[in-house]
Amino acid sequence: MNQDAAASNSDAAAGVAPSGALRPTAPAGERTPDATNATLIAREDLTDTLSIVRVRPDSGRVPTFVPGQFVRLGVPRGAHPELGPGGRVRLIRRAYSIASSPLEADFLEFFVVRIDEGALTPRLWEIEPPGRLWMDEQAKGEFRIELAPPGQNLIMVSTGTGIAPFVSMLRTFRGQGRWRRFVLINGVRYACDLGYRAELEAVARADANIRYVPIASREPKGGRWTGLRGRVQNALEDATLERVAGLRLDPADCHVFLCGNPEMIVAVQALLEARGFVTDDRDRPGNIHFERYW
Ligand SMILES: Cc1cc2nc3c(=O)[nH]c(=O)nc-3n(C[C@H](O)[C@H](O)[C@H](O)COP(=O)(O)OP(=O)(O)OC[C@H]3O[C@@H](n4cnc5c(N)ncnc54)[C@H](O)[C@@H]3O)c2cc1C
Ligand SMILES: NC(=O)c1ccc[n+]([C@@H]2O[C@H](COP(=O)([O-])OP(=O)(O)OC[C@H]3O[C@@H](n4cnc5c(N)ncnc54)[C@H](OP(=O)(O)O)[C@@H]3O)[C@@H](O)[C@H]2O)c1
Repeated sequence: MNQDAAASNSDAAAGVAPSGALRPTAPAGERTPDATNATLIAREDLTDTLSIVRVRPDSGRVPTFVPGQFVRLGVPRGAHPELGPGGRVRLIRRAYSIASSPLEADFLEFFVVRIDEGALTPRLWEIEPPGRLWMDEQAKGEFRIELAPPGQNLIMVSTGTGIAPFVSMLRTFRGQGRWRRFVLINGVRYACDLGYRAELEAVARADANIRYVPIASREPKGGRWTGLRGRVQNALEDATLERVAGLRLDPADCHVFLCGNPEMIVAVQALLEARGFVTDDRDRPGNIHFERYW
């Protein structure tokens, strides 16, 4: 994980100093006294706890970003805005990978799971579109496709909402010869938790070099789920990967990107390092790249 991401989920920071009456939206370049600077313009609910949301900044232009980066979303703390140091409105802020492509300039899209005991997400679920919130004006993060040279097999491994950065990469780079194979593995508890499933199935049907590999860990045996079962590690077994993606886990021509649950990242990293892969870090380039969500 990069330094930006490590620092991204602290609540310490604050918004803008209040100055005047509350208003629902602000002109470009300004922020409202309650520190909001963006509108949640749409929300598509997959389940009670999983949604795809779209956010439009008041400035009218989304921050410049590359696929794989994140911004923070935030809401004022408390029912009534609380003031912190310097008289600024205190915010609860959390990082979210951008799922939309930079080719879409009007809004940013995010895939978010509600954590009932969490500080921010229950508050996000209270916002009905069009509702107000705060969004970073700059994107951050080093988790990007440029970490792998062109022409490699890219194996993208995600749990839950960790699929978001890979959706942005696919939406942006497909059809450009950026990779040999792009294999997108998404491990979820239940099939209903599979975000972007129809879009990804359609993309994979249209392009033989893109493989979408959903895997469910808690679907009941004998039920309707006919796909892979277990955790993402099962999809990385030789025979399974060969069958579903037509390739082998070979450090000579594969880069693996991991995103989501940190325990998954540790487990898959160990599995890959035993196969000769090297974790990429500041001092040593490698072919394992990761983004931890907590
Ligand atoms: C770089 C980065 C990008 C992120 N991108 C996304 C994203 O695209 N979508 C998203 O939903 N979350 C994402 N997260 C997590 C997000 O920042 C919040 O932590 C999460 O939304 C919960 O916020 P909260 O305040 O409600 O609970 P918190 O107090 O922040 O989290 C409570 C607990 O919930 C669990 N948890 C947190 N996030 C997730 C998750 N995504 N899936 C499963 N369990 C989780 C962990 O056990 C965590 O300790 C990202 C985190 C980082 C660092
Ligand atoms: N109320 C609901 O219906 C509901 C639904 C979804 C999410 N949630 C909330 O969202 C939170 C997170 O849910 P989530 O399902 O998105 O994320 P998650 O708990 O990270 O699970 C996503 C997938 O990752 C797997 N996984 C967990 N540990 C792993 C490891 N060490 N290696 C590889 N895979 C691993 C899980 O398998 P296992 O099944 O084996 O753990 C599951 O298949 C929960 O805390 C819950 O509060 C609630």
